[in-house]
Amino acid sequence: MYRTHTCGELRISDVGSQVTLSGWVQKVRSLGSMTFVDLRDRYGITQLVFDGTADLGREYVIQIKGTVMERESKNPKLPTGDIEIKVAETKVLNKAQTPPFTIEESSDGGEDIRAKYRYLDLRRPPLQRALALRHRLAQEIRTYLDGQQFMEIETPYLIKSTPEGARDFVVPSRMNPGNFYALPQSPQTFKQLLMVAGYDRYFQIVRCFRDEDLRADRQPEFTQIDCEMSFVEQEDVLNMFEGMMRQMFKNAVGVDIPDPLPRMSWYDAMDNYGSDKPDIRFDMKIHEVTDLVKGCGFSVFDSAEYIGAIAVKDCASYTRKQIDELTEWVKRPQVGAKGLVYIKLAEDGIKSSVDKFYTPEQVKAIADKAGAQTGDLVLILCGPKRKTQNMLGVLRIEMGNRLGYRDPKVFAPLWIVDFPLLEWDDETQRFYAMHHPFTAPKPEHEEWFYSDKKEDLERVCANAYDFVLNGTELGGGSIRIHNADMQSRMFEVLGISKEEAEYKFGFIINAFKFGAPPHGGLAFGFDRVCALFGGQETIRDYIAFPKNNQGRDVMIDSPSEIDRTQLDELHLDIKA
Ligand code: AMO
Repeated sequence: MYRTHTCGELRISDVGSQVTLSGWVQKVRSLGSMTFVDLRDRYGITQLVFDGTADLGREYVIQIKGTVMERESKNPKLPTGDIEIKVAETKVLNKAQTPPFTIEESSDGGEDIRAKYRYLDLRRPPLQRALALRHRLAQEIRTYLDGQQFMEIETPYLIKSTPEGARDFVVPSRMNPGNFYALPQSPQTFKQLLMVAGYDRYFQIVRCFRDEDLRADRQPEFTQIDCEMSFVEQEDVLNMFEGMMRQMFKNAVGVDIPDPLPRMSWYDAMDNYGSDKPDIRFDMKIHEVTDLVKGCGFSVFDSAEYIGAIAVKDCASYTRKQIDELTEWVKRPQVGAKGLVYIKLAEDGIKSSVDKFYTPEQVKAIADKAGAQTGDLVLILCGPKRKTQNMLGVLRIEMGNRLGYRDPKVFAPLWIVDFPLLEWDDETQRFYAMHHPFTAPKPEHEEWFYSDKKEDLERVCANAYDFVLNGTELGGGSIRIHNADMQSRMFEVLGISKEEAEYKFGFIINAFKFGAPPHGGLAFGFDRVCALFGGQETIRDYIAFPKNNQGRDVMIDSPSEIDRTQLDELHLDIKA
């Protein structure tokens, strides 16, 4: 028997017991006449005491037999901190090279080296806690959905493109020369087909693949909690998954979220927060001041479609240097503003960068409209409406970060509802589906949906919804089109020809002709759920073997070249 107990198990009540432990050597401290060793496994750390020296190195895998003793100097930080093991027998199960970085709570290794030796990094407690949280949340999800009659059904990975807005990863087919599978960006069409097939409630914790630029909350392969329900309206879907989230928050992190959750229309989110994923942990809303500032001779404002402001609490004391730095910050390409106008409401008077164009009363009126009080700083941007709101939204988040308003231990979830169905793109002069092409228009907007006028189509709202937490989109879904004619109309609106629609999506349009029930659903990004529940914005630590920013797995060195024989089998040539 390798062990009688784990390294996190023994307590003061075990004093006197003979035990066998196995684990990794974390630390060796030699005091001459005796040696202390920290022995680690997934469950914790236990202190071992050897008479004299112990010939052990870091990360050796050992087995010891010994007696549990009460410690003289106790360590209240460790659950096993009241005891130690007086070692009688030691067996080295496997030696280890000195690891390239320290395997402790915080490591001295840089990101690259830790990624290369991911299996060593995964030994560290923060990663073990992250994956344990992921496991716990997965169990909560399965328990909840099973209790609600959902069936877990797997869908294929080698499929045909599913449009979710990103590029596909493709896989060449050896048996079908010149043909390619696409890896699913989501199981969207399959879950809808399962509804046609009468499965009524489906879920899957499933891997999805998207070839898009990577960010802290994006990986090329990631996991969705993918769900679909038949005979439901938006309200049914929101209630069901609000329930799931409530249970996950309660059982996994001990947090009670509001009941019911707040809901905000997409239009309000854009107008007030400049984002379709607002962080409502703090206020600092955007206020439009266009009417107050236009037509006073300040050409920048006079020529702008929209002028908006945020009031930053207690920042009137910002220095010239700080304002200059902020101005440079908003001018960075990632934000894209041309400049920044400010008003300081200091105790000794109001000062602004546009004093020459406005009377003190006008400046005060702008500050009032922005909701500012004495002591506050008002920041103003102008330009095209949605773009400017967006920039103000980014600035708002930045100020929230700088002022410490974004505490990761505070959770402020909400639903964003009433999304526009379609988004016009000036560059390509066509509509895109805001969510995806299977989302249904709101029944009361159907008339506009069948209209040929751009303005009508722009007004159509969808029964689409996003679950947003702390400024991150955790999930999204919609009530779907379940009628073949309406689905064909959708493809037409999106500028997809009949032939192309038939070639790409004939199977689903066809399926809708065989008795498709009304249905709807949603998918949560499981990696994002785990990261935010764990108080992080980066999902990488919540995935056992993630990719780096270049989409590479540096541990296994992938992607990599394949040899000529394989290329030949796949009927492929590499362009020089
Ligand atoms: P959507 O494209 O909004 O919807 O994706 C659902 C959720 O998946 C997560 N997500 C990602 N997480 C990590 N890395 C990525 N690259 C990534 N891309 C998306 C997000 C997002 O909210 N089929 C629809 C759902 C539906 O309509 O039912 C879909 O995939 O958290």
